[in-house]
Amino acid sequence: MNTNNAPPPVGSNQPPKMTARGVNVFYGAKQAIKNVSLDVRADEVTAFIGPSGCGKSTFLRCFNRMNDTVDSARVEGEIKLDETDIYAASMDVVQLRARVGMVFQKPNPFPKSIYENIAYGPRIHGLAANKTDMDGIVEGSLRRAGLWEEVKDRLGESGTAMSGGQQQRLCIARAIAVDPEVILMDEPCSALDPIATARIEELIDDLRGKYAIIIVTHNMQQAARVSQKTAFFHLGTMVEYGDTSTIFTNPSEGRTKDYITGRYG
Ligand SMILES: Nc1ncnc2c1ncn2[C@@H]1O[C@H](COP(=O)(O)OP(=O)(O)OP(=O)(O)O)[C@@H](O)[C@H]1O
Ligand SMILES: [Mg+2]
Repeated sequence: MNTNNAPPPVGSNQPPKMTARGVNVFYGAKQAIKNVSLDVRADEVTAFIGPSGCGKSTFLRCFNRMNDTVDSARVEGEIKLDETDIYAASMDVVQLRARVGMVFQKPNPFPKSIYENIAYGPRIHGLAANKTDMDGIVEGSLRRAGLWEEVKDRLGESGTAMSGGQQQRLCIARAIAVDPEVILMDEPCSALDPIATARIEELIDDLRGKYAIIIVTHNMQQAARVSQKTAFFHLGTMVEYGDTSTIFTNPSEGRTKDYITGRYG
């Protein structure tokens, strides 16, 4: 686990953590993503924005091969994690999804105890040698997700018996527990109230630099608050990508401007 607490400065010229080149995604004959290329860096949060149906979730799911679970979906192009082609036949998809974790729109804790929700992944990946190790992973993950103080006395209670905001932080803790390198978040706050949303946004900022993070959001203020890079999608193409501050104040494309100023979407 990366124990360095200070996030590296943005733009520190590290090689990208993940690269997408010429990605096309089809559902049957229908093309949902058209020739998209993008670099994702560990020291930046990348936001995907754009109107409903433009392909944000489809493209996000390419980064941990989640589209493999959709029968009609076909992915073309190249996506690499460090130097490894994640679509290579030799790629172990279970390992990949531990390295590239995912947090969904609707919190989806397992119907098990809070402790077991966290311990499950490390156990199947053999990350803990004994109970003490596992206790440490559970506590560390819950601490990083900002949930430990709220749940430390009720680790045996069901994960589904928590508030929505707590459940989402539990799902983030669960993703962190297997020591991922990248975290994909698909509208992680859309089911949460403003206070729970603020906690998740703080958490995303804390996690920046430890993990490469991509977040899909419909909330423009959220994208502006949490991300350093923004990609704007429209009708399956990536129309514009750049520094979040530039995209929101001085976009080069008319379609980006129309979207961020609320003219459509
Ligand atoms: N499982 C699927 N089977 C067939 N078509 C799909 C499937 N999932 C998505 N699509 C289509 O692909 C396109 C992109 O969908 P996607 O869910 O990626 O959009 P999105 O930008 O995430 O939208 P939203 O903001 O509403 O979540 C849409 O036209 C959608 O209907
Ligand atoms: Mg979506």
